Amino acid sequence: MKHLALASLILLNFVSLAQKPTDYLSSEFHAERRAALRKKMPENSVAVVFSGPVRNRANDVNYVYHQDPNFYYLTGHREPHAVLLVFKDEQKVKGKKFDEIIFVREHNALMELYEGGRLGQEGAKEVLAIDAAFEGTQFGKFNLDFSKFDKVLFYDFENDVRDTNEEGDLYDLIAQFKEKIGYNQGELMVEAQPNNLDVALLDFFMTELREIKTEDELDLLRKAINISAIGQVEVMKAMQPGMSETEVQGMHEFIYKKYRAEYEGYPSIVGAGHNGCVLHYIDNYKPAIEDGELILMDLGAEYHGYTADVTRTIPVNGTFSPEQKLIYDIVYDAQQAAADSCKAGLPFYKLYDITAEIVNNRLVELGLYKSTSEKDIVNPETGRNRYYPHGCCHHIGLDVHDKGIYDLLQPNMVITIEPGIYIPEGSPTDPKWWNIPVRIEDDYLVTEDGCENLSIRAPRKAEEIEKTMAEPSVFTDYVLPDID
Ligand code: GLY
Ligand code: MN
Ligand code: MN
Repeated sequence: MKHLALASLILLNFVSLAQKPTDYLSSEFHAERRAALRKKMPENSVAVVFSGPVRNRANDVNYVYHQDPNFYYLTGHREPHAVLLVFKDEQKVKGKKFDEIIFVREHNALMELYEGGRLGQEGAKEVLAIDAAFEGTQFGKFNLDFSKFDKVLFYDFENDVRDTNEEGDLYDLIAQFKEKIGYNQGELMVEAQPNNLDVALLDFFMTELREIKTEDELDLLRKAINISAIGQVEVMKAMQPGMSETEVQGMHEFIYKKYRAEYEGYPSIVGAGHNGCVLHYIDNYKPAIEDGELILMDLGAEYHGYTADVTRTIPVNGTFSPEQKLIYDIVYDAQQAAADSCKAGLPFYKLYDITAEIVNNRLVELGLYKSTSEKDIVNPETGRNRYYPHGCCHHIGLDVHDKGIYDLLQPNMVITIEPGIYIPEGSPTDPKWWNIPVRIEDDYLVTEDGCENLSIRAPRKAEEIEKTMAEPSVFTDYVLPDID
């Protein structure tokens, strides 16, 4: 008994002593999002959303845990091994009424000794404000007949969840759920499954919800974007030939952490010269970036789950060469034209068309394309526009490529506009253009009559970049001992 009391005291301390940010989304926000989902759900239905799996890195080390964005959006729960059930209509079990239930990890003194406190059932009630909170170990026996619902909405399983030694883990929750709903494992045909199962509708509803940001979400996005833009400014000031790509990446990420953004929203892309032409280059290895090169830096801080996505391309020595400037200005003009047209009601695809028209026409003027006809701009090996081979815009939010229907722009969407031109060595053009990569990427809040550039703090115009690069840097005196 005495031991038990001591254990509870220790657990209590683990939970209560650990400081947590005070600006997480509130439990009211998540409750309101569950209510919004419930409103969209069809009559007599239940939605079942699982937490994200723990990913093993190697041996006994796991990757830093990243919560499933849908689960996070609906609960605010940051721990693994949990499942949320949202009911369209109020349910009655053992005399109690509820329209949502969550099953979370139970306390485990040994695991909490290593990993810190878990919410547990009581914590889930208190912190997540979900009254019907239970432990994962109770899910299997929980008396709920899924066959009575007209629709059971869930995301189909990826079969990529490892079994752990703990009872009631995500592996168990999924296996028990499959059994409860009569899921026919290995059957790809929809007809082979019970006819009330639906693996499409939940994603549609979550997309409709998540593509429009609430004011609370905008606060976090603004913060993540501001931090990322400051990172770009400070790196512009610090940039010197001879630095490594790794070091440049480190400066951005140090600044994120300095402002207490927990993570990067995606692996940082820092590529000088030819490396910048690799669209998602994440080696960031080049030991000494060269005088005369352009360096492309596509990075985004993640603040309380919400990620920025900002790219700047700058001349390592502080001055654009004439060829670099010509290409840079095309990308700038393409981005600016798209931003000028961006407002509620515009079809999403028009943004790409606006940028592509400018890029293609101007590359013809410079002689890089013979004409704007498809045969002259499409690289037959990739099937893409040779020098502008990617799309220009996507939603950002809890995912860097956030959920969206990509139809008409609507107020309170947050999107990127990111045209680019990449001319790798060996391209069928005058070698003076080789190894010029340019991408400019900003994050925009769509409004009724325009859009607001949320990453405006990072200079975009070539002349402004050169001016910023001439300013003194906080990193100048940041000299570490030689270890060679
Ligand atoms: N950072 C990936 C992208 O720009 O879409
Ligand atoms: Mn992007
Ligand atoms: Mn990007």
